[in-house]
Amino acid sequence: MSKFDHVIESQQFNEDTLKELFDLADEVKNNPTRYSTPGKIMASLFYEPSTRTRLSFESAMLRLGGSVISTENAKEFSSFSKGESLEDSIKVISGYADIIALRHFEIGAAKRAASVSNIPVVNAGDGAGQHPTQALLDLYTIQSYFPQVDGLTVAMVGDLRYGRTTRSLCYLLGRFFKVKIIFVAPPICRMADDIKGYLDKQSCTWEELEFEEALSLSDCIYMTRVQKERFLHMENYEKAANKYQINKDSLPLINKNAIIMHPLPRLKEINPEIDEDPRMIYFEQAQNGVWIRMALILMLLNGNN
Ligand code: CP
Repeated sequence: MSKFDHVIESQQFNEDTLKELFDLADEVKNNPTRYSTPGKIMASLFYEPSTRTRLSFESAMLRLGGSVISTENAKEFSSFSKGESLEDSIKVISGYADIIALRHFEIGAAKRAASVSNIPVVNAGDGAGQHPTQALLDLYTIQSYFPQVDGLTVAMVGDLRYGRTTRSLCYLLGRFFKVKIIFVAPPICRMADDIKGYLDKQSCTWEELEFEEALSLSDCIYMTRVQKERFLHMENYEKAANKYQINKDSLPLINKNAIIMHPLPRLKEINPEIDEDPRMIYFEQAQNGVWIRMALILMLLNGNN
């Protein structure tokens, strides 16, 4: 297994490491009791709220026979509230655990943490920056439906400006696959120029379209929530929120074999009335987070024995 010191951004992965990770995730999924890291401790340090990422990381570590120490609201209940720097916290936690899953509200926080840590740091989301483990489980899920990936049209819908999941997924899809990406966003939430420039450099085709057109053209529709917590001015949030919804009326527009994904949590982007439609795979996507994170923990800890 290739060695990583830390997982900070999705560009760290190449075709070989993606394949190794996904193969291992398949094996873990099929034989969850065969893999273990007994005696190892994961610290989950979350300065922003989370359901899926924190609990699936913790579930992954516990399923591997390891243990978890955790601060679920580090902004309030860690010594951050007394003024301790992230760097000092990480130096201390490095002596308590074998791996850190870190979610922080600032772009670049995971990189800063990694620079002072002598144990692996995994970026579990850094503000509007990146969410690499989400992108890995997203790609793993897409490949489980479309093993080739090449040739797919992938629509990304919603908060593309602050959405770390779509940024990280663009880095993976744009680099390794001949996909076409369609961006659908309110004017204030359009995908940032750095990602568009990156896709251009990778010769990855992208365009910005209206929602209904994107629904009918896409093999994979990746819905996202407009993130109220990222807006300084609530009038801007109100302008962007609740513009796009998939519901019963949208279903006839969507290809028969398409998949609808969402990193969750959702607000009104996907009406629960259509959850039973076989194209809606967001709960399976969330479940895949456990297999991918188990594989990633194994990869990081085995590479650092
Ligand atoms: N997808 C995701 O990051 O969800 P949480 O914020 O609940 O972790």
